[in-house]
Amino acid sequence: MDLKQFITIVPDYPKPGIKFKDITPLMDNGDAYKYATDQIVSYAKEREIDLIVGPEARGFIIGCPVAYSLGVGFAPVRKEGKLPRETVKVSYGLEYGKDVLTIHKDAIKPGQRVLITDDLLATGGTIDATIQLVEQLGGVVAGIAFLIELSYLEGRKKLDGYDVLTLMQY
Ligand code: PRP
Repeated sequence: MDLKQFITIVPDYPKPGIKFKDITPLMDNGDAYKYATDQIVSYAKEREIDLIVGPEARGFIIGCPVAYSLGVGFAPVRKEGKLPRETVKVSYGLEYGKDVLTIHKDAIKPGQRVLITDDLLATGGTIDATIQLVEQLGGVVAGIAFLIELSYLEGRKKLDGYDVLTLMQY
């Protein structure tokens, strides 16, 4: 299936010059959403994944159906102040902005094999921060899966040495 037909490019959103990749038409189509999820599930099955970790908000949309399909857990990575119990945190730089990401301190057991999921690899800042959180807790990043990679932003350079799957490239 050509998944790109379900991605709408929105010019100048959320800032002038940004060509936003809107994944909501893909999520809105049951066949496309299932197809994309199944690709990531197959990738995960080859890597003996114990846990899915995804950053808010769109990392949840990609990761939760994969976790359900595999019968493993999902641990959310959230912006500061959103998780109710003790967390570890890391600062990161976005394509447009800066923020802090957190995860519950007891979300990952040392040695667990983690698949990180998100909708989009842009500069790689979000996933670089997510990797740091997983590794701080003793997790092993066994794979990283995205719907979309913006190759021209070279986010993959930040993920050097990690096993990365992207379903669409721009
Ligand atoms: C977007 C996107 C990725 C990240 C990619 O999330 O969903 O998580 O940016 O950019 P990067 O590779 O340059 O870090 P955003 O921070 O807009 O959060 P949201 O999903 O909660 O809207």
